[in-house]
Amino acid sequence: MINVHKARQETPGCQHVLHFNNAGAALMPQPVIEAVQAHFQLEVERGGYEAAALAEPRIQHFYHAASQLLHCQPSEIAFMENATRAWEMIFYSFDFQPGDKIITAVAEYASNYIAFLHMAKKRGIQIEVISNDEYGQLSLDALKKQIDARTKLIAITHVPTQGGLVNPAQAVGQIAREAGIFYLLDATQSVGQMPIDVQEIGCDALCATGRKYLRGPRGTGFLYVNQKQIEKLDPPFLDLHAAKWISQNDYRMHPHAQRFETWETNYANKIGLGVAIEYALSWGLDNIWQRISTLAQHFRTQLAELPEVTLQDLGKEKCGIVTFNAKGLTAEDICLKLRAQSINVSVSLAEYARSDMEARGLPSLVRASVHYFNTEEEIKRFCDVLEQLFKN
Ligand SMILES: Cc1ncc(COP(=O)(O)O)c(C=O)c1O
Repeated sequence: MINVHKARQETPGCQHVLHFNNAGAALMPQPVIEAVQAHFQLEVERGGYEAAALAEPRIQHFYHAASQLLHCQPSEIAFMENATRAWEMIFYSFDFQPGDKIITAVAEYASNYIAFLHMAKKRGIQIEVISNDEYGQLSLDALKKQIDARTKLIAITHVPTQGGLVNPAQAVGQIAREAGIFYLLDATQSVGQMPIDVQEIGCDALCATGRKYLRGPRGTGFLYVNQKQIEKLDPPFLDLHAAKWISQNDYRMHPHAQRFETWETNYANKIGLGVAIEYALSWGLDNIWQRISTLAQHFRTQLAELPEVTLQDLGKEKCGIVTFNAKGLTAEDICLKLRAQSINVSVSLAEYARSDMEARGLPSLVRASVHYFNTEEEIKRFCDVLEQLFKN
């Protein structure tokens, strides 16, 4: 069980805003804020390199916390500045050849799809989008049928930016394993929101971000890569941290996931992300997921009572991202009017997930994403304010 009162006491932002933009960037808890500020202060007082040396155990703690979160080894984790760069480091490690096939799903995130298109233009790869099943999640039957000898990669998004859908990541993992195809999972919106076990899911690589459901600082993310795959992957760029210059004409790549990192990094944020992960683990990912799913379900029920509202979430199993449209007001109008009353939501545009939003004829959506520190009272207030907007 989550002690919501304690969670809110440890979240200073709760005193200022009604925050339903956790899929954008969640409110940071006090221990994360303190850890980031403390390291920044150490840099101010001691110098950046000297502060990093003093904080070495706290910096290394990030790898241990992330490996505990995902159920893998610390050596399979790389610290990145965001989820997109983590994903790209894997995608651009492949030496794609003309005719190679990538299989993805309808809900795929824009940046990933842009990278597919980039590689289609540069190398002549083919992109195949698996159709959805009757629930609006990716069809496992369609996936099985689409795999063939040219398939190089299965790259899907677990929870999309634009809705409550949870794609069946583990079932995809089983299919990918049986077919012996590399499986790259974008878990940006699911890590921190629900339990994630990379062994169970069976993905070869996974990207995550710090600022969303993990409640870490902005400008942080990380990558998981299975150790067996690390040795086979050739990162798109290397520096003196990712590789060692061993003789005038030779280098040796880092044996672990750190071959995807760069030397310079934001140490205060890296420490902060480690603390954010530890904080999530201290609540328990099962507890977090249970609280978020219950709140989101309650939220959908309340919204469904407003005749102007059309809920837009797909999927058999739904998460904390609640999306809707409303008669008479655009998503952008709703977002701005709510913000004027210190209520935070965001807008998902078609260009963030074109295959999905265009097929559904949706130019935009209101995205109200809940976290475990949100309350039923906030949901009530939100629905009351929304109702007022329809009347004005
Ligand atoms: C599904 C999904 N993937 C990737 C990203 C990109 O994450 P980041 O901004 O950390 O690169 C987002 C951000 O909204 C997302 O929702």
